[in-house]
Formats: sequence, structure tokens, C-alpha cells
Amino acid sequence: MNQSRDHWSSNAGLVLAATGSAIGLGNLWKFPFITWENQGGAFVLVYLICIAAVGLPIMLAELLIGRRSQKSAVGALTEAMRGTRFGGLVGGWGVVAGFILLSYYTVIAGWSLYYFWQTIGWAFTGFPPGLSAGDLFNEQVGNAGLQLMLSLGFSLGTIAVVYFGVSRGIERIARIFLPILFGILVLMLISALGMSGSGEALGFIFRPNFGELPREGILEALGHSFFTLSLGMGAMVTYGSYISRKQSIVKAGGAIVALDTIIALLATVIMFSVIFSVAGMREEVGGSTVGMLFISLPELFFTEVPFGNILGPLFYVLVALAALTSTISLLEVVSAYVIDEHGISRQKATVGAGAAIFVFTIFAALSFTGTPFLSTMEIFADKAGWFSTADHFVSNWMLPTGGFAITIAAGWMMTRRATREELLDGNEPRWFNYGVWRFFIRWLAPVAVASIIIAVILGTDFS
Ligand code: PHE
Repeated sequence: MNQSRDHWSSNAGLVLAATGSAIGLGNLWKFPFITWENQGGAFVLVYLICIAAVGLPIMLAELLIGRRSQKSAVGALTEAMRGTRFGGLVGGWGVVAGFILLSYYTVIAGWSLYYFWQTIGWAFTGFPPGLSAGDLFNEQVGNAGLQLMLSLGFSLGTIAVVYFGVSRGIERIARIFLPILFGILVLMLISALGMSGSGEALGFIFRPNFGELPREGILEALGHSFFTLSLGMGAMVTYGSYISRKQSIVKAGGAIVALDTIIALLATVIMFSVIFSVAGMREEVGGSTVGMLFISLPELFFTEVPFGNILGPLFYVLVALAALTSTISLLEVVSAYVIDEHGISRQKATVGAGAAIFVFTIFAALSFTGTPFLSTMEIFADKAGWFSTADHFVSNWMLPTGGFAITIAAGWMMTRRATREELLDGNEPRWFNYGVWRFFIRWLAPVAVASIIIAVILGTDFS
């Protein structure tokens, strides 16, 4: 074992860093939109069941595989899969997923910087009369120079944090940023609950009506539970490899899953309260996720939301912070692999991996600018452009297949003794039952995940 391996300084450090990875654009951008598309209540309930029955068991599996081996994705999965080559391939699949996911995630993260900047200006001047929020959005995504600057800025921020390592970089940033993120959300919640649409919003989100749930909604909920918890690609395996023996994996995993879920629900309550308070907004939002976060909301902050000219800029800071704590976990998966498997120093590995990924970020950033090929290529039906192709491939193929392999590694290939030792480490909480976890990881989770993969083969889209 590597003597000098960096570790989280405490259980709270791990929980904050991993929660930071989990909370991201998935919570603020994707979840509210798919809840909208799938008619609320029943979808939310199904999502919560997926999180508890599939997400939590796989979260524990990833963390324990990481801690057991004290190695990053490739080494850890090789060990969990009894030294077979297949284990290395599964880990490598995760590293590639992290690489691609980070390359395009950074582009949307960059948009939050743009809107932060714009909303700061509007806080002083008010929302410019006559400005169309839709046109503004199209202009910014279509401006190649601007897109490259924003993505570059975000990539440099990500590299800077990972450069300093686990406890001095990643954990420190999470400790500072997560409390700020919670604070901003609470302020926004208070403001949103005071709006006239909040009652209707709560009803939409929490009152299940199964008649309205589209069938694909069930699989979409399952697919999203991977994305939002950062599962299926080795991020939690890598973070798990920095857990020391003294910390309880079950307590940490339970807290991460609970916090991620609470934040997704809070964000949804906030956004829907705003939208339901404005006549005609429901119809307008219908179009896309981008529409909700980057077209409808910026204007509403300045026209409808109480204290919106303070909350508006704060909201985009929140999106940027949430995205940053996710991008650092993605870069860490790739850097840790290079450090562990190729013996390169952290500093060199991080800068090298960050630069290599940025080359692909350029392709993603230019996907909306009418660039030949990058804006038009189409491998998957209806997914034109590099950006959408990459997102479709990672969300629909890489994460579910990676997640499936994790259930096989932890449920079938590792010994009962090994997984038991990791989960029942003397600090585990009372609610935890090892037998139940084992049943879920061997049977329920793989069957559920296999059903997503089959659904994808039959043509359902989760991106
Ligand atoms: N969980 C992050 C989000 O919700 C995305 C992510 C996926 C981050 C996989 C790391 C690994 O936005």
C-alpha cells in the first residue's frame, strides 16, 4: 500500500467532498426539468425509491471498493474483480467516462459564470427593458470566443483545486463552498415559499398521481439516480480510496445520498414556486432544461422574485459552486488514475489530464456555434452535435454499464467477508443491515440496472 496516500482529514471532510461531487448540475438543472416533463408527484416518488433501493446500495459498494484497495478506479476494480483483466477494463471504462463527462460538463458550468456576470450587472440596472432572455441565451452559446473563455476559466479553476490534492485542495474547497451553497438555497427557499405559486408547486412535486406518470419516467428516474449520485464511473470509488479505517462508510454514504436528495428537492421547490407564480410561465418553460435555468429564471429574478436582484446573482454563484465541486471529482478520477497507475506526480498528472480534457471541452464548447461537424454530427438519432452526442453516450451507456459492473464486483466477486468487514466496521449506524444490503447489491440493483440498459438498447433516452 502506498504509504504517502493522502486521506480525508475527517468523516465530515469526506461527506462534504463527496456530497459536493453529487450535488451539481444534475440537481439544479436536470432534476427539476425531468420532474417537470414527467408530471411531478409520481415521478418524484419513483425517483426516491430508486435512490434508496439502487443508489444507496451502489454508493456503499463504490465507497467500500475504494477503501478496501486504497487505490483509484482501475486498481480498485482490478482488486475487487480478483485481479482479472476485466476489472481493469471496468475501471478504465470509468476513467474514460469521467474524461468525457468532464469535457462537456465544463461548458454548462461556464454558462453559470456568464449569467453570474450578467445578473450582477442587472442588480444595478434592473433587467433591461425589451431584452429577450431567449435571444440573449442564443447569442451567448453561439459566441465561440466567449464560450472558449468561459470553459477555459472553469477548467483552470478545476485544475487549480485538484492540483493541491485531497485534503488541501478538494476537501478544503468543499468545506468552504458547501455551507455557502446550503445558505444560499435556504435564502432562496424562504423567498420562493412566500410567492403565490408555492402551494401549487408543492402539490405538483409531492402529490403523486400515477395516472400521469409516463412509462419511460420510471427508467428515467433510475438513470438519473446514477448521474446525480456520481455513480457508475469510479468517482465514489476514487473518493472512497481516501477514507481511512476509522470512518464509517455506511454513515458517510447515507449522509451523501440524503443531502443530494434534499438539495434536488429544494431546488425543484424553489424553481417551481417561481414558475407557478407567473401567469403563462408554465407554457413558456415547456421547451427544455436549458430554458428553465438559463432563460426563464434570469428574467424572473428581476421581475417577480422578492429580493431577486440579490438572489439572482447569488443563484448563479450557487450553480457555479455546485458545478465546481462536481468537476473536481471528475478530474480527480482521471488524475488519480494517472498518479496511481503511472507513478506520475499529482501536479504533473493534474495539469496534463486537465489539458488533455480541455481539448475535448473545446469541441463541446463549439457545438452550439454553427461550427461544421461539431454542431452537426449525428451518431445517435436526434442528438445532433458533439455536445449532445457525448452527453447521450455517457448518460445512457457508460454510467449504467459501469454501475452494473460495480454491482457484480461488490455483490458477486468480492467475498462476503471482505464486504462485511468494510461495512460493519464498528462505527456503522444502527439502521444498517448487512444482509439487506447484500440482497440489494446481488439481486435488486443489477436487475434494475440491467433493465435500464435493455431499455436503452430498445431506444429510451435518459440524457
Ligand atoms: N453528480 C453530478 C451532478 O449531479 C454529476 C457527476 C456525475 C459528477 C458523475 C461526478 C461524476 O451534477
